[in-house]
Amino acid sequence: MARHPKLGILHPASILIFAGLVALWLLVWLIPGVDNTEFRVAARICGYLGAGAMFVPYVHIVRRWFRHRDWGNNLGWLKWHLGAAYLAFFFVLIHSRGHGATPLTLVLQVLLWIVMVSGVVGFYGQKLLYYVLPGLIEQEYGRERLEPQRRFFLEQARVRITEVLIRDWKSFATRVQEKNSPLLASLADGLPDAEREHLQAAVRMVNRQTYKTFEEEIEAKSLVARSLERALANPGLWKPEGPRPPDLDADFQKLLQRDPATLTAVELRGRNHTLLEALYPAEMTPTKPVVRHFCETVLHDCFERPFRFRPALASDALTENRYVDTTGFAEPTQREALAKLWRLVEERRQLDLEYRLHLAGRLWLLFHGPAAWALLVLMIEHIVMSIWYGGF
Ligand code: HEM
Repeated sequence: MARHPKLGILHPASILIFAGLVALWLLVWLIPGVDNTEFRVAARICGYLGAGAMFVPYVHIVRRWFRHRDWGNNLGWLKWHLGAAYLAFFFVLIHSRGHGATPLTLVLQVLLWIVMVSGVVGFYGQKLLYYVLPGLIEQEYGRERLEPQRRFFLEQARVRITEVLIRDWKSFATRVQEKNSPLLASLADGLPDAEREHLQAAVRMVNRQTYKTFEEEIEAKSLVARSLERALANPGLWKPEGPRPPDLDADFQKLLQRDPATLTAVELRGRNHTLLEALYPAEMTPTKPVVRHFCETVLHDCFERPFRFRPALASDALTENRYVDTTGFAEPTQREALAKLWRLVEERRQLDLEYRLHLAGRLWLLFHGPAAWALLVLMIEHIVMSIWYGGF
């Protein structure tokens, strides 16, 4: 403990105190009890001392509800929480001689054990977890930054997917910026004026590449990416009075004649995609359905998913093999964007792992908290009853 003088009882080695107390409890439980008046008085005093010490962790927790008040730092309170809990465990051991004489005292002891063991497993387990965490994940974000990072990865994924679908940002943005651009009309279809202007500002920025930071670049590009995503899902994207793509094959002509309401979401996206590719061959990369489908799965099954403790079954479909197979169908110019997208999938999986580990590191509180509150209620009843029937 000498190397961490400030930690004191919060040092990992203090787990030995609990190990010692457990060993002592077993010993007392095994040896026949002493029963004379002096011991009974001592046991009773230990009962009150134990109850007094046991109240300290609750005071700490109640103090947490008033964080804005300057009532000492949190670490100091946690030290009292642990120290008083160990002391309480010791006094209860003497008080009860390691046995539960009545159903109520037995329940009290079981609850105390649950609280102590869950506290110890949780507290020291969490320390161990945070010690090994850097070895388990490449980049640690910390609990608070996980959700913002998840959203940032989602925006990056949208950008990478767009990079698979378009030839390059500059020519795409130039086309959108043309006077009376039909591409802009498709991208901004249905947008309120303010959002349309926002989109145009983003397109200007993408064209001039005037980003100050990587975040700014992703923000501008993802705005364009989202409008492309919306256009691809838009049943009204094909307007018979709009520009007509040249050289349409018969099957596609038939598809265009169909009422969009009768198309499935996949058919609609396929139709719109082929339409945009035919209308803007210099801006859109001809993309095979298998590549498009891979990108859609990546977006929906990986990036759009919120964090979950249990791994989602659907994400099983996104295997490394599938990625490698997909690159086989991709145009050579799409491979770099696909590689970046796959790298992002791996980073998102690391983020999921970090989320799960943080959550796992708090699972013990599900036992510790409820058992501690039940213990408080029964303990108060036990104290009241023993004063009522037994004196002091
Ligand atoms: C007499 C025994 C104990 C009692 C009555 C007690 C009571 C409590 C209660 C009521 C909570 C709040 C739970 C929640 O927020 O859901 C809590 C949290 C906690 N307990 Fe205990 N506890 C005891 C022993 C221990 C022990 C032995 C340890 C560790 C070795 C421990 C470590 C903690 C920690 C780290 C927290 C979380 C504190 C925070 O989030 O600020 N407790 N305890």
